[in-house]
Amino acid sequence: MEIHKGLAGVVVSETKISSIVNNQLLYAGYNIDELILKKVSFEEVIYLLWHLKMPDLTEYNDFIYELGDRMALSDTIITCLKIQCHQKLHPMSVLRSTISLLGVFDEHAEAIDKRAYYEQSLSLQAKIPTIVAAFSRLRVGLDPISPRKDLSIAANFLYMLTGEEADSVEVAAMNQVLILHADHELNASTFASRVCASTLSDVYSCITAAIGTLKGPIHGGANERVFEMLLEMDRQDCAVSTYLDEKLDRKEKIMGFGHRIYKTEDPRKKHLKKLAKELTDKTKQEKWYLKSCEVEHYLKEKKGLIPNVDFYSATVYHSLGINHDLFTLLFSMSRIAGWLGHINEQKNENCLIRPQSSYVGLQNQTYQEMKESTIKEGY
Ligand SMILES: CC(C)(COP(=O)(O)OP(=O)(O)OC[C@H]1O[C@@H](n2cnc3c(N)ncnc32)[C@H](O)[C@@H]1OP(=O)(O)O)[C@@H](O)C(=O)NCCC(=O)NCCS
Repeated sequence: MEIHKGLAGVVVSETKISSIVNNQLLYAGYNIDELILKKVSFEEVIYLLWHLKMPDLTEYNDFIYELGDRMALSDTIITCLKIQCHQKLHPMSVLRSTISLLGVFDEHAEAIDKRAYYEQSLSLQAKIPTIVAAFSRLRVGLDPISPRKDLSIAANFLYMLTGEEADSVEVAAMNQVLILHADHELNASTFASRVCASTLSDVYSCITAAIGTLKGPIHGGANERVFEMLLEMDRQDCAVSTYLDEKLDRKEKIMGFGHRIYKTEDPRKKHLKKLAKELTDKTKQEKWYLKSCEVEHYLKEKKGLIPNVDFYSATVYHSLGINHDLFTLLFSMSRIAGWLGHINEQKNENCLIRPQSSYVGLQNQTYQEMKESTIKEGY
């Protein structure tokens, strides 16, 4: 039996949603570079990932309206968020539980028809920024801010965080970050969502599985740790080389570096690096960008390691005023677009995902009855 550790190099399904070709990332055939260059909206990208075509104007307006109509959270969900604020949970755990709770309060959660799935997709996609923004305010004792239907997802999210409209540079940056994280072929969290979907489970369970998977530090959880590393370097005020050498000597992974698929360049990095430069210039926090460039240069020279999507996005999020323990939640706000597309695709062409393992444990065991004296009283 040939073993493919971590399923590396194994193709388990066909997809029409996204692809990586010659180090380029494409969403339904559109190169992300073009989507960024042409300044498309995140909403258009969601539509593309779900319908595999760009919307025309009427479809786009209808889509925006449908999303806008579903952004608000019920009082029950707000109350549950408040309760979770007191539990000292990681914000990704709060998000995971809140998505699961949305399923508890959806009387059609178990429905399997296409219309129900589309309705649930719209609702989840629309509510996730509201959940993240509400949680970030509630945990510091502020009231949540209601979503506005007249703003884009990017603008609305920044508005719900602070109560003030963000400027056009910040909104454009947020929109780009959302686009760049929206889908990425069969990454671990997308795979988790598809495994769950392949059992014909409900969409809330699939997204809960995906969020739990994204949370891990060697997947989406890396972005939060990237900024912790930059903060630590700043605190220690030592040379970047000294700091990194110590980590490498301890055989620690450097967060935000390395990738299963990309070995020479992550196509999203150049856009995020540019945004990190623009935003740190704008907010007079150049040190984070400069430190990041130093880290990139040193690791490339020393180990041939390349930054992945999580490296410069950490500085981008920080420059947008977002607390670093919320970074992976922002990743979820975007990647849910891809997850929902993939869950739908999996269900439409379903085959149960059930690989095999090679048993290497003990053999030829025979059962020995326990001696009476070893059995605890009462059992
Ligand atoms: C993403 C990641 C899991 C890819 O893992 P992978 O495809 O299994 O690659 P491997 O772990 O086999 O790495 C190959 C080699 O590069 C090294 N390497 C890879 N990423 C590294 C990193 N971030 N820091 C230090 N060394 C790294 C490995 O130690 C290994 O070296 P070896 O051959 O001497 O043992 C891995 O690069 C990682 O843990 N990165 C840090 C977390 C991160 O940023 N995750 C977000 C990914 S988008």
